[in-house]
Amino acid sequence: MAEPKANELMEKIVSLCKRKGLVFQSSEIYGGINGFWDYGPLGAELKRNVKELWWNAMTRMRDDVAGLEATIIMHPQIWRASGHVDTFADLMRECPLTKKRVRADQVDPQSGTIYRWSGAASAKNGWTVEKLCGVLLLKGQHPDSARKKAREFYAQGTPDWASGDWQTLELKGETVAAVENSLDFHPESGVELTAARPFNLMFKTYVGPLESEDNVAYLRPETAQAIFAQFKNVLETSRQTVPFGIAQVGKAFRNEVTPRNFTFRSREFEQMELEFFIKPDEAVEAIAGTVIKPGEGHPGEPTPAWGWQAWHKYWVEERIRFYEGIGLPRETLVEYWQKPEELAHYARACVDILFKFPFSKRDEKGELLGEELEGIAARSDFDLSQHERCSGKPMGVFDEELRAAWGRLDPAKQQELAQRYYDARYKYLTKTGVEPEPAAKEAKANAEGLAKGQYIPHVIEPSAGVDRLILALISHAYCEEQVTDEKGKTETRVVMRFHPRVAPVKVGIFPLLKNKPELVAKALEVRNLLRPHMAVFYDEAGAIGRRYRRQDEAGTPYGVTIDFDTLGEKPELLNTVTLRERDSMTQTRISIDALLPFLLSKIR
Ligand code: GAP
Repeated sequence: MAEPKANELMEKIVSLCKRKGLVFQSSEIYGGINGFWDYGPLGAELKRNVKELWWNAMTRMRDDVAGLEATIIMHPQIWRASGHVDTFADLMRECPLTKKRVRADQVDPQSGTIYRWSGAASAKNGWTVEKLCGVLLLKGQHPDSARKKAREFYAQGTPDWASGDWQTLELKGETVAAVENSLDFHPESGVELTAARPFNLMFKTYVGPLESEDNVAYLRPETAQAIFAQFKNVLETSRQTVPFGIAQVGKAFRNEVTPRNFTFRSREFEQMELEFFIKPDEAVEAIAGTVIKPGEGHPGEPTPAWGWQAWHKYWVEERIRFYEGIGLPRETLVEYWQKPEELAHYARACVDILFKFPFSKRDEKGELLGEELEGIAARSDFDLSQHERCSGKPMGVFDEELRAAWGRLDPAKQQELAQRYYDARYKYLTKTGVEPEPAAKEAKANAEGLAKGQYIPHVIEPSAGVDRLILALISHAYCEEQVTDEKGKTETRVVMRFHPRVAPVKVGIFPLLKNKPELVAKALEVRNLLRPHMAVFYDEAGAIGRRYRRQDEAGTPYGVTIDFDTLGEKPELLNTVTLRERDSMTQTRISIDALLPFLLSKIR
């Protein structure tokens, strides 16, 4: 079957999400609210499975990661230290007439005729306005529509605005010029946009009854900062030592200017973040004598000689393996290494794992380029250093192994490593605004601290979005195929090929006929056997083929049918059921006793 076009495919996916209860528009009965989405019964299960799989892989299956569940609203100083108050902004341009904003890098090019004025005057009331106004007219539009918009613009805030007298305003200094592919006009109003200004993406609120500046707080725009703020408490209570990580899953909020592509860019979403703390390379070299540079592929099991590059590569590979393990093959993913000029100033490297969504742009060969699912950043010691400086609380650790190893180094090596550490600390301090003299003093103290086994850990941060992953899983699972039924009729089967580990419902339980109490009783017995262990769906309504189709669309990987053979009509088949596999539609016979171990082996 021909593949549906990207938009058509997205429309089908969005429609299936609503029809099957995967994703609904938030507040739909009031017309919805842009950038907010609810997960329906199947979506809630899917999301729960994804978060649990991540949590298990990142914490329970490892000795070196501890979990955290922090609050959404935290002390506002956290967002000053992290840089979010000052720099977490998109550059925006505004239509001065409608006040609608567009992201400066997302204005579509437009061609037409520009009408510009230098001001306006009211003949009736005698006031004048001296400011520029430009309106772009697309081909075929009448110049009067540009003049009407300009008058509305000049009348804003004037005493005559409400009365409608603005219509009599005289426009001054009209010029007319043609323009091609201009990026300066609002795509809806056609009015010339203001210069780009930063617009902070954090949602603000007030803590307590007073809506004053002192009580401003923010809904967290990422889960990561709570991990840094609680670093010392987790370190002390979990009895971990560096290298180790802290993982958190939870809500994050960003007042995105243009939420788009279904749930891809939302204003409320969930993140799954790991902050993995490592020794600075100078400490690794002092302890292990060398710092191993990673080669191609997975670098294998961690060793004491791993510096930040090996740990970074390790986490990139681990995360890709995770995606493969839940049904996103490597060929659907792109490993994008950010170029030096794209990196945040504190980052040493960052790899974005992209997924080839149906709405992703294509390269010149027609290949999907992909959109970010997860970023894996090597963030140096920036975050903990910032919190140390802003809170005044020490964020460093004491490393006995380093202290002992340092004592065994020859003086030249000690000098070399101390100098490198000094340079890195001095660079960080001056970059974050510390004057050269105090920066040099502090960096010297840091280098002396290193010699005594003290340092601020560096961090590797794999940061994934739950909702984007859900959308990737849904997009990848969606499949239409032509099937022919037993009567020879061909129809389109929509099947969600979710990996059994993430599938919202693992197994459908069907008594062959609902009016045979013995079949129903046996089917309920099977349901009761399975449901303490997995999500099951019991369905007795309609023809068995229709019931299978409903579960295909829900992505349920297995169907179990209880028929007369289960009850012993053929004695050798007593207590066996038909097991139908969703993707191949093959049916096999399996004993009820073997059912649970079989299903568990597939979904774990
Ligand atoms: N702590 C690092 C951090 O937050 P980020 O690249 O801004 O990094 C990490 O976000 C992940 O969170 C992204 O890769 C994406 O999966 C998800 N994410 C970010 N903004 C999002 C949004 N508006 N809607 C849905 N997911 C988003």
